[in-house]
Amino acid sequence: MEQKDYTGQYKAEAMMATRLQEVPFSGIRKVLDAVTALKAKNVDVIEWQIGRTDFDTPEHIKKAASEALMKGLVHYAPNLGIPSLRKAIGARTTVDNGVAVDGEKQSIVMAGANEGILVAMMAFVNPGDEVLVADPNWHHYKSITSLMGGLPVIVPTTEKDGFVLDPDEVARRITPKTKMLCVTSPGNPTGCAQSAESMKALAALAIKHNLVVLADEIYARIWYGAGATAPSIYSLPGMAERTIIINGFTKTYAMDGWRLGWTVASEENTRAMLKVRQYTTVCVNTFIQHGAAVALTADQKPVDDMIAEFAKRRQIMLKGLRSIPGVTVPEPLGAFYVFPNMKSFGLSSMELSDYLIEKHSIATVGGSVFGAAGEGHLRMAYSCSTVDCERGIERLKTALAALGK
Ligand SMILES: Cc1ncc(COP(=O)(O)O)c(C=O)c1O
Repeated sequence: MEQKDYTGQYKAEAMMATRLQEVPFSGIRKVLDAVTALKAKNVDVIEWQIGRTDFDTPEHIKKAASEALMKGLVHYAPNLGIPSLRKAIGARTTVDNGVAVDGEKQSIVMAGANEGILVAMMAFVNPGDEVLVADPNWHHYKSITSLMGGLPVIVPTTEKDGFVLDPDEVARRITPKTKMLCVTSPGNPTGCAQSAESMKALAALAIKHNLVVLADEIYARIWYGAGATAPSIYSLPGMAERTIIINGFTKTYAMDGWRLGWTVASEENTRAMLKVRQYTTVCVNTFIQHGAAVALTADQKPVDDMIAEFAKRRQIMLKGLRSIPGVTVPEPLGAFYVFPNMKSFGLSSMELSDYLIEKHSIATVGGSVFGAAGEGHLRMAYSCSTVDCERGIERLKTALAALGK
């Protein structure tokens, strides 16, 4: 980067903070733009590109938010979030994680899970601190660590290990500068989840080396394994004091556009994050928080129905992909992604993703967008109807067969 020009001529690149050099623009945007362009021309696109649900926010949640707006709840909320919502977050976490949580003291309502990640990292990552991040992964942990002046330390995962953190690989990378371990289970882009055993081993490492754990549990309830939710590291002995849970409404309640999430952490950790909140966003939009409180306290049938629908799509995707010679798919136990290995077709994941959208109108995201260990894979989000999943698989078979020739 150029040095600041003192001659008075303004050059944006020279003026930008040097830390911006460490972070790329999102690689997902390219395929989103391609889909928008095709749809503007009425092309029939198979939409496997986007990491959000295709469901509408349930009616009772929208109604509660609109009523709050019409009642005039339009002023600042408390920094932490409205008490009824924090209480509901505490009750939900107590059920899902099996550990008593006092939501009023231990949670902060965030503008999406992503704000939770940002605030947690601002509160705990010093310049020079090392943060352990699995690869492939949701890009935010790495990018926000860099924006904080920290050092993301990449822990590659493999298809053989189901794309989850191998505690031995984590241990090998711990140094005196390691401050934080990020655990995303189930994960994006793979849908794969840490086993209860590996979670215990990660917890033991965090305790032994005195690490903060950022546990992104945004997909914990979109879960196809044993039990109602994915195993949580927060619930393990000795972990509540050092774990910051990141969670939200985006996936479970089909509320991505509302921008609402939360953190759950010890009172002390929550107070540290509150300081960041007071000097950044101050609070989240007040009236939508009233809708969110209803999301958590009302009958959860809409969530169960949505997950049942995802389970059907998951079966179609797995069966279909596994019927294609040369394709293998690690078992996704949660979320709404499959991450097939397409290496046998001889293209890089970006080349294959480009080929599929350009020649066959199938939108996927190249695995390398999520890190080097994702190379050769594609992320497919089954956030489209079962009919589109079936049509998509047939179209994909044709596209791949054409490549073979
Ligand atoms: C693992 C993970 N964490 C966080 C987020 C962001 O969620 P939100 O929309 O609540 O900011 C996503 C979104 O795709 C995600 O996949």
